[in-house]
Amino acid sequence: MERVFVTRNLPGNALDTLREAGYEVDVWPDFLAPPRKALLERVRGAAALITMLEDRVDAELMDAAGPGLKVISQYAVGLDNIDLEAARSRGIVVTHTPGVLTNATADLAFALLAAAARRVVEGHRYVQAGEWKTWHPELLLGPELHGATVGVVGFGRIGQAFARRARGFDMKVLYTSRQPRPDAEAELGAERVELGELLERADFVSLHTPLTPETLHLMNAERLAQMKEGAVLVNTARGKVVDTAALLEALERGPLFAAGLDVTDPEPLPADHPLLSHPRVVVTPHIGSAGRATRLRMAEMVTGDVLAVLRRQEPHFPAP
Ligand code: NAP
Ligand code: GLV
Ligand code: GLV
Repeated sequence: MERVFVTRNLPGNALDTLREAGYEVDVWPDFLAPPRKALLERVRGAAALITMLEDRVDAELMDAAGPGLKVISQYAVGLDNIDLEAARSRGIVVTHTPGVLTNATADLAFALLAAAARRVVEGHRYVQAGEWKTWHPELLLGPELHGATVGVVGFGRIGQAFARRARGFDMKVLYTSRQPRPDAEAELGAERVELGELLERADFVSLHTPLTPETLHLMNAERLAQMKEGAVLVNTARGKVVDTAALLEALERGPLFAAGLDVTDPEPLPADHPLLSHPRVVVTPHIGSAGRATRLRMAEMVTGDVLAVLRRQEPHFPAP
């Protein structure tokens, strides 16, 4: 019986469809990721792997699985943890979950923008600490959302969905991406500019690129320093797109007013990390796609593509 190794349990019944189709489904039972050694052991002999973004899927892992490995289905859209070239050269198909999580992730990015700018978490802590004694005209002022200019870095599926939400808040949208997106420009009234100009003009900057050698530390000290005084940075892309030390510096000495982060470097972020002691840094634990229906649909996508490849059919969502 061919075996499918799944590195974390998935919500819903999608894994049953694999069992019903006659595959052995071996699910890592713990909440935490399998340690490297256990991962290398458990993949041995597997025909398919369902992986998460914390699993390092490299040549060593593929070789540990052995020549029977036909497909790696990633339960995420981002593929930066997977050595795509190593998979290609071994004839292993890689699939992922694009599109279905676009709106959930854009929703969370917008929630972080609003929370960071309007000091929602800081306000909550203030109330919790018993400091709320009175209404005051100068209490917890923050930048306005409506009428602001937002800069979207990476204008793909999630970047555009984020821009759509910003338009609903009467924001002007600037974007940067290597290819122009004329259709989205027309729909969203978006203006394509170079990254430097975007950083100089935007009140809010939201990151939506994949992590690649080109986007690693895209937001470094120099770029952060180009941002407007009082600007807010939102990152739901990958932690390493931002240089964390430079981000802290930009928060402490300017120009940044606040930051909303669903992804961090390091990730997970330890509770004693200096980012968490800044009053206007709002952090969520990489939950961009964590809408209930989204996560169920992602499970159907990965299991559907495992089935397709094991049945020698074309996968629906191959890695680009
Ligand atoms: P996508 O549709 O492929 O969009 C990514 C965009 O980034 C593309 O339009 C690409 O356009 C642009 N880009 C790539 N390199 C760039 C560069 N150097 N400078 C500027 N733009 C660049 O992908 P998506 O579905 O929107 O997902 C984007 C990323 O979000 C994923 O890769 C993942 O890392 C992250 N994500 C996070 C969560 C979460 O839970 N927080 C959830 C889902 C996704 P060009 O090629 O024209 O530049
Ligand atoms: C989540 O970060 C994803 O890439 O789907
Ligand atoms: C505030 O609560 C107001 O009524 O302006």
